[in-house]
Amino acid sequence: MHSREIRHRFIEFFAERGHTHLPSSSLIPYNDPTVLLTTAGMQQMTPFFLGLDAPPAPRLTSIQKCFRTVDIDEVGDESHCTFFEMLGNFSVGDYFKLDAMRMAWDLLTRDFGIDDSRLTVTVYPEDHEARSLWAEHFGLTMDRIFDDPGNIWGPVGASGPCGPNSEIYCDRGEQYGCGKPDCGPNCERCDRHLEVWNLVFMEWFQERDGSRRDLDRKNIDTGMGLERVSLILQDVPSIYDTDLYIPIIESAAAIAGVAYKSDERADVSLRVIADHARAVTFLIADGVLPSNEGRGYVLRRVLRRAARHGKLLGIERPFLNEISDIVINEFAAHYPDLVARRDTIRRVISHEEEAFGRTLSTGISRFEALAHSVAQAGGAVIPGDEAFRLYDTFGFPFELTSELARDAGINVDRDGFERALEEQRQQSRSAIQAFSDSGRGRAPLYATAKGAPVAFAGYTFDSIESAISDLLTLETSVEQIEAGAAAEIVLDQTPFYGESGGQIGDTGAIVTDTGVFAVHDTQRPAPGLIVHIGEVAEGFMRVGQLARATIDSARRAAIRRNHTATHVLHRALREVLGAETRQAGSLVAPDRLRFDFTSMEALGPVGLESVARIAARAVLDDTEVTAELMSYPDAIERGAMALFGEKYGDVVRVVSIGDFSSELCGGTHVARTGQIGPLIVLNESSIGSGVRRIEAITGETAVDYQLQLHAVASELSRVVHAPVEGLLDEVRQLISALREKERAIDQLRVEIASSSVDMLAGNAVSVDGTHVLATRIDAHDRDTMLQIGDRLRDKLRSGVLVLASEIDAQPALVAMVTGDLVERGLHAGRLIQEIAPIIGGRGGGRPELAQGGGTDASRLDEALAAVEDIVKRQFSG
Ligand code: SER
Repeated sequence: MHSREIRHRFIEFFAERGHTHLPSSSLIPYNDPTVLLTTAGMQQMTPFFLGLDAPPAPRLTSIQKCFRTVDIDEVGDESHCTFFEMLGNFSVGDYFKLDAMRMAWDLLTRDFGIDDSRLTVTVYPEDHEARSLWAEHFGLTMDRIFDDPGNIWGPVGASGPCGPNSEIYCDRGEQYGCGKPDCGPNCERCDRHLEVWNLVFMEWFQERDGSRRDLDRKNIDTGMGLERVSLILQDVPSIYDTDLYIPIIESAAAIAGVAYKSDERADVSLRVIADHARAVTFLIADGVLPSNEGRGYVLRRVLRRAARHGKLLGIERPFLNEISDIVINEFAAHYPDLVARRDTIRRVISHEEEAFGRTLSTGISRFEALAHSVAQAGGAVIPGDEAFRLYDTFGFPFELTSELARDAGINVDRDGFERALEEQRQQSRSAIQAFSDSGRGRAPLYATAKGAPVAFAGYTFDSIESAISDLLTLETSVEQIEAGAAAEIVLDQTPFYGESGGQIGDTGAIVTDTGVFAVHDTQRPAPGLIVHIGEVAEGFMRVGQLARATIDSARRAAIRRNHTATHVLHRALREVLGAETRQAGSLVAPDRLRFDFTSMEALGPVGLESVARIAARAVLDDTEVTAELMSYPDAIERGAMALFGEKYGDVVRVVSIGDFSSELCGGTHVARTGQIGPLIVLNESSIGSGVRRIEAITGETAVDYQLQLHAVASELSRVVHAPVEGLLDEVRQLISALREKERAIDQLRVEIASSSVDMLAGNAVSVDGTHVLATRIDAHDRDTMLQIGDRLRDKLRSGVLVLASEIDAQPALVAMVTGDLVERGLHAGRLIQEIAPIIGGRGGGRPELAQGGGTDASRLDEALAAVEDIVKRQFSG
């Protein structure tokens, strides 16, 4: 039975049983960022299973294009593949287990004519219901029902619907078996029993943490691989022998001048090419473009791997387009959009294959040399930076290097590769920065850039179609740029605003048939020229291509609010400070605005409040904002405010806020002032003589700020038990009460320390008839040490005093000598100089009073113990 007929009969069968046929969804899953590619027919049904969306009918059927990356490295043997078609039937809260089993069984045994003695099933061990249904209704004896603890299917992404499942296996015959008595489904030794159909009894929802809850209703999700059922119905040894692959394999074999099944090594390459050509064709048709990330990387990986296997077969020219053409022809009847997208598919494949082909041979030689030197050095691992060089210079996906290494019996250092990759990403970020920084030096390049003057369409549109006029790298103008490259794009018209008049440039994306360019900034480096600065995120871009240019609309909306707000503030400032106040500069960004103006005096809190009130009124009035083109003299006559030192052409654009304000301005603005939302002036400062600056926020930023302030104020009011209006007084009182307490505590500290003075004085020893007191005290700061010292000295009347303490964990010393002893040659400063080094420090001072500090508090006692001897020496010296 030809695969076309299998598809047809499958859909017929379920249509007859009340199922609505849904077309396959794209290989790019919608709505679930945690999933790279579509891997099962049930994905497009998920919203129905969860009750988030009403299904078109409770019974559905589909033939879904699927791509699974799990086995990507195994492709080349006889059973693995990446791209496949899944035949499925689904019940959304309608029929459940028994009906699903019945329909599957009937289709296989009656319509497809498989002898039912060839079928066995597996069930989830705890699913007793499924086991007894198979036994009672289908006459399966227990030796044909197998337990499989792995029979829980789903969820597809991080969370989602799932349930226990039951799989139907078909016995392909003894010739495929291992002959062991325990051979059956899931046999690890052979493929005699092949899983054909998976029935999922979808009754749970699994959360991200792995916990499960029951779904409101029970659903059925089944999936049967078209490739496998074709293998069975066509009675061939492998999926690669079915009509789904044979024409593709044969065309590759013809190009290579080999015959399939004459040489095992060549067969591996032919199967890789056949699977990957199908994958590449369907991926590109669904809008995936080669890149270094995500699904674009999957595409690049399989495309390049197929190209390398072409080389292994001795094909020296680009050939994948021819193979892809066969894929398109073979599948066109069921997938007509492949034909519609043939040109794009061809272009993308050619470009990628040619780019890779240019470096493939050199890359392989490079790899071989590397592998050789690693082996010579007795190693078994290709260093990560070498794998990175192969990737970066020769376009080898990491997995290709791994595959080559595996064949050579060595490994590759993946972590090292990732590190080198990350480093390169950082550099690319700075490369984009380089464009923004190097405007001046590139003046000659801009002067000759094609496409100026560029029409700005962004007053009305956020997204338009346009043609690529020029592509600029840092050095020169080029015809084409590739994934990963930083560059500037010139379009013939653009919705992107090039930075000027204080308003910063737009960001967004430029997309063509072959690539995606992420725009990080937009500038006007020369008159009439607008350049989009960024990098190719996917695929490639060419001069002359038609592109869709789309700005980040939310960001632009925030910029518009801030730009109109600067006009409002400008006008408000003139009302408060007088008409001589002039704008001296501005910055209009999405998250903030800043407005510089001339004024000899500060606004102060009162002035700021007046400005804020006038501005708020202008917003509440919800005045219309209009823009008109007119001659410069007309504009001035209208009273439009013009910037000092700025040159205006003959025709100028005047932006008016009713009759509140009128300014010459090329920027983008809100339609009515009400759209600005809250306008909060944050502060005022001086930025030079006679020039002042206010900073403000609007829109959502201002809403966030207000909510935050409100939350803080409410919390504070709760904590200090005062109403919000009374907070300031309350907090002031708290601070002064706190100060008072601190003073009292200081006082107490001194008193506590002094109360020990009598006791301490008793520790004095007599050295040559002189009181010498060297002791530790517990002082909180140096001031306390000095106060205690003073009291002790008064107490001793005549003597030498050395006090030691730890202050903030650091050792501190104070020495005092009474006047009579100074006359006899004693010197506090020299005393400290001698003992401070013991605690790892220094010190000194006058004869009567000296201080020291150090780093090693553990030796304080040692320092104190040295005092007596030093005093003796000083007396004798
Ligand atoms: N979702 C299940 C599978 O992919 C049945 O369709 O096997």
